[in-house]
Amino acid sequence: MAWLFSRLAREAFRDLQGHLGRINSRLSETLLGLMAVKLFRAEEQGRQEFQRLNDDYYRAGMRQIKVMSVFMPLTELFSSLAMGLILWHGGGQVVRDTLSLGTLVAFLTYMQMFFRPVRDLAEKYNILQAAMASAERIFHLLDNDEALAPPAAFAPEQGPGPGRVRFENVTFGYHEGQPVLKGVNFTIPPGQTWAVVGPTGAGKTSLVSLLMRFYDPQEGRVLLDGVDLRDLDEPALARRVALVAQEVFLLAGTVEENITLGRPWVTPQLLRQALEVSGAQGFVRGLEEGLQTRLGEGARKLSAGQRQLLALARALAGDPRVLVLDEATSSVDPESERLIQQALPRVMAGRTSLVVAHRLTTVRHAARILVMHKGRIAEQGSHEELMALGGIYARLVRLQALRQGFNEEQR
Ligand code: UTP
Ligand code: MG
Repeated sequence: MAWLFSRLAREAFRDLQGHLGRINSRLSETLLGLMAVKLFRAEEQGRQEFQRLNDDYYRAGMRQIKVMSVFMPLTELFSSLAMGLILWHGGGQVVRDTLSLGTLVAFLTYMQMFFRPVRDLAEKYNILQAAMASAERIFHLLDNDEALAPPAAFAPEQGPGPGRVRFENVTFGYHEGQPVLKGVNFTIPPGQTWAVVGPTGAGKTSLVSLLMRFYDPQEGRVLLDGVDLRDLDEPALARRVALVAQEVFLLAGTVEENITLGRPWVTPQLLRQALEVSGAQGFVRGLEEGLQTRLGEGARKLSAGQRQLLALARALAGDPRVLVLDEATSSVDPESERLIQQALPRVMAGRTSLVVAHRLTTVRHAARILVMHKGRIAEQGSHEELMALGGIYARLVRLQALRQGFNEEQR
């Protein structure tokens, strides 16, 4: 009986945990996206959706209770049946004088002593089943083997290296059979600034993610100073390549903590330099507590432009050989924009840089521009060469110029 119920109970608890997980993720999503919910007046829809999830959870809870409400009384029933049997069989023997009353009473007591632990066990069994269902979900997550394979043997430490970035026949996709980068080839000589442009979804951020080794390519290799990234240990890579991501993520902590990020090699001097060169110093000085101002939940919030300046300082503080910038698509105020544009040449001086640019005016000074289209490098060359070619790049530049003109007319 216990075996049968354990299977039913496990099933019920599993269901229950699944529903609880859905409620929790919905809740955190809604709280994170509260601005969007308010903006689009989606409160009512959100409320209904939550109600639905909650109802499902309630019904799953009731199913689990039903299983237990059959199991518990059943053990009770067996205990009473046993008691009745002893009374009937033993009682008859006492009447016929083949058994003493004392023995019968002793037997009844034994019986009760036997069933109390059985009942307790049944109760613990219930808790155990709930724990097993939860453990299943935890182990499912732990067993998820998505970490990148560590290198078999690290390449010998050769010091910082000049910072030569090379993509060799790189093919990569997030899903089997759907490559987003196809046969990408290029080499950035040390110290040069190259730009990547292209329509949305062309694979620019994916390219950057490979250089940061967030993923490994399915075919081909990504090399830094002649070493396959797969053979570099992670700290070495993190020290040499820094990324200013498309979306800036700030941690709850002080401004200083957000810039150093606990990297031991960020010295106070590097921190000072990074603040100065990135142009973040101006606004950090203006904060009441300067570097010690707390950011994040319930604390001070920064503007989009300030966040980007901070991200720039963060990347610089590690003094990387290679700097990767994934320009934010959301525009910042003209003042911050000016600060960032002024900072960029200083930031990139002496480093190999790869800039993903959305505003094409920012890429004119790049030594070479890669034009991505549907995962391939469709065109490459300097601004002048590409304009003369009259292809995708020239069209993008004309479109942006048109839009710019239109915006100015509107004003
Ligand atoms: P990218 O994110 O590389 O495009 O996605 P992009 O060039 O940087 O685009 P913008 O300019 O920032 O908007 C390339 C393709 O990879 C898919 C996307 O759907 C897109 O088709 N992709 C991206 C995934 O499938 N999974 C991801 O995690 C990211
Ligand atoms: Mg992108």
